[in-house]
Parts: sequence; C-alpha cells; structure tokens
Amino acid sequence: MSGHGPAQPLTAVKSGPLNGTAQVPGDKSISHRSLILGALSVGETRIRGILEGDDVLATAEAMRVFGADVTRSEDGEWSVHGVGTGGFAEPEDVIDCGNAGTGVRLIMGAMATTPIAATFTGDASLRSRPMARITDPLALFGAAAYGRAKGRLPLTMIGAAHPVPVRYTLPVPSAQVKSAVLLAGLNAPGQTVVIEPEATRDHTERMLRGFGAELTVEDTPEGRVITLTGQPELKPQSIDVPRDPSSAAFPVCAALITEGSDVLVPNIGLNPTRAGLFQTLRDMGADLTYENERAESGEPVADLRARFSPDMTGIEVPPERAASMIDEYPILSVVAAFASGKTHMPGVRELRVKESDRIDAMAVGLRANGVTVDEGDDWWTVTGLGPQGVSGGARVEAWLDHRIAMGFLCLGLAAKNGVTVDDASPIATSFPDFQGLMEGLGATFRGDDD
Ligand code: S3P
Repeated sequence: MSGHGPAQPLTAVKSGPLNGTAQVPGDKSISHRSLILGALSVGETRIRGILEGDDVLATAEAMRVFGADVTRSEDGEWSVHGVGTGGFAEPEDVIDCGNAGTGVRLIMGAMATTPIAATFTGDASLRSRPMARITDPLALFGAAAYGRAKGRLPLTMIGAAHPVPVRYTLPVPSAQVKSAVLLAGLNAPGQTVVIEPEATRDHTERMLRGFGAELTVEDTPEGRVITLTGQPELKPQSIDVPRDPSSAAFPVCAALITEGSDVLVPNIGLNPTRAGLFQTLRDMGADLTYENERAESGEPVADLRARFSPDMTGIEVPPERAASMIDEYPILSVVAAFASGKTHMPGVRELRVKESDRIDAMAVGLRANGVTVDEGDDWWTVTGLGPQGVSGGARVEAWLDHRIAMGFLCLGLAAKNGVTVDDASPIATSFPDFQGLMEGLGATFRGDDD
C-alpha cells in the first residue's frame, strides 16, 4: 500500500499532443460510501464501477473486519452482505486505513453509536491529519476517543452504548465531518440534525435516501439543515458508481496545457457540489465543452471534451466555490501556471489539512519549476507564464499525496523540461492506472530504471 512501500520516483517529459478517450476510474467518495452503507444494510448490495484504489480497498477490508461479507466477482462487480444498522462486530485487530481520510473518518462515524471498541491507524500522511473535527461531534453522541495529541491516529474509538441524537453545526466546510455525524446518527434514536453553513458534496445524503433512510434537507439562512431519522432499516441497493470528476480533472487539465491536444473524458458526474473546477476552467477561457449532457441515477452527467487552450487568463476564483472543487486546487494551480496573468485562490484554508498541506506542497514545487507563487494562511496566487513559459526541470516532493504527484506529472508534460516526483506510489490510492491511461493519450513518463 502506498506510503508503506519503497518510493517510486517518476518523471514526466514534454509530450506531443494528447489525443483520444480517457476512461477514468469510479468516484472515490461514492465508492467508500457504497461499501459502508452496504455494510450497514441487511441483505446484498451490488456495486459496479467501484474505484479499486488503495483507499477504497482499505475501506472494503475494514467492512469485513466489522462483520460484513464483502466479495468481488471476476467481472469486477462487488457484493456486500451487510450486518444492519448497529450490527458492527468488534474488530480483533487494529484497522489500517492507509492514506484514506475519507475512509477512516466515515468509518469512525459509522461505528460511534455501536457499543464496540476499534483502533484506527494509517500511513504517515493520515497519522498527521486532524481527527478532533470528527471525534468532537461523535463525543456528543456518547462515543469516546483516545488518540495522540490533537486527536491524531492511532486512535481508539469506543462507541456509545446508549447513543443520543445530536444537533451539530459544522465548524469547517467538510463533507467528511458531515458524513461521519450522519452515519453515527443512523444508530441513534430520534432525529440527528447537521447544519452546514457552506454546502459540501452531498453524496451521503443522496445515498442515505437511496438506501431508504428518512432524510430531509432544507435551505435556510443558517445554511443547509439536514435532518436524519435514526434507526432505519437500510435496504440493500444496486449501485452504478459514476466516474470521478476529481480524477477526470487530470487528463482534462493536461489536455488544456499540452500543445495540440484534444481529449474526450466520458461519463463524468457533474453534481454541482463537485463540478467547481470545470466552471473555473471555462471562466479562464479553457476550450472545455460538455457533450451528451444527461441525467443518470439522479445525477447530471456529461462527456467532457478538452482541447489545448493557449489563450487562458488568470482569474479570481470565487471563495464560495471552494468546497465544490476542494480537491482540484493542485491541478488548477498547474493550469494557472500556463495561463497569462494571476490566478488568485482565496478561502482555501482546508487545503492545509489534506493528504498534505496542499498550498505549501504545490507552492514549493511550482517555485522549483520556475513559477511564482505567493501564499497566505487561507489563500494563494499563481502568476501565469503563458502556454510556453514554464521551465520545469526540477525534482519535487509529493508528500504521500496522490493529487500533488499527479499535478506535477501533468506540469512536466507541458513544461520545457521534465518534472520528477520523488514518489508516485500514492497515485494508487485514487487513480491506479493514471500512468497507463495518460500514456495511452500520448504522455511520456520515465521511471528510475528507464
Ligand atoms: C471527501 C471530502 C473532502 C475531500 C475528500 C473526499 C468525501 O474532504 O477533500 O477527498 O468523500 O467526503 P473534507 O470533507 O475534509 O473537505
């Protein structure tokens, strides 16, 4: 698993046009939720198109140790025989969630109202990330957590024996926190209410409804008020996982900055809580079109077509859009380096507590490759050098962060000189075939041995 094995350096070099069709993997957020909600249902949930990346595989393994029967058939369809709401068994050993913040935080929520104990750990990245944002609201249900300073992993969670429902206003715009509280609310009596002042991705709400829970959402002056009625009997589902817009972002952005490119990325979910990057790219003047727009399973979907866009200009990215593109700022900063003028990205403090401090990781690496970046606590600005202006040529650190690694490899495809990331292995957490898919479009990479 990434972060536990030897580092795998990888270099991306200036590449000819990227052309063709990019079939990106299933959505990571929806894949985690499919497994967890399947495990909390009685009966068999079937899942097609799941992301078979390290993060999701760790969640599948965790659901097994909590007692669900999780299997994969040869044709790639997954099956989860769940144990029902409140039915989790106590794990015999420590649960290693690898690099996955979403996995560990949602699972902690899902077990917090069942009277069992579980100990969680992860790789060096996950062990450095804040967990108090999860354990604080879970304590309101009656759960107890014992971790390292600031609630860091390894951490033992003891689920509430007599959970009470909770009313909780999110102090940070985080779908993981919202989802942990809602999943805990599943096994509390009465109504659990989560208020989110800023809308974040709403997959948990949509899927809880799909699994038969009673859940209402009201837009109020305080924000989105989500009310869940506890102790439902969740009904198993048949799920088609849409393709991940956060993974689509890499071939799309690589095409925009690589001369002569024309790439189609089919079947991408354009849920408004996830599609902020694509709007931002269009605002910058990118040649990015939505083809074959349609609705699938209640979600807007389209085929994205991205062509080389030499005339992009820097913009002020609206801070209210941040939650809908929070994972896409690293690759946006790469595109911004090839635009003309400054791209200012305010209201993004959350980037500092992702798999890495993403503002710092990108700023250091972009500067090493000849790009000017200014930063403050919750903002950063990239000064674009135009379509042919980025020198590249540096070796950068990925900090065990898949999106940092992929972002810099895309930079190397369009810069004058190749760009090396010290360790590409974390890419396997969300986009296992990134290198093969990009090579299929015409990208050139070199490993240490080449
Ligand atoms: C996710 C929520 C986001 C995002 C992460 C996936 C989810 O994290 O960065 O990659 O699936 O709920 P936060 O909730 O911390 O913003």
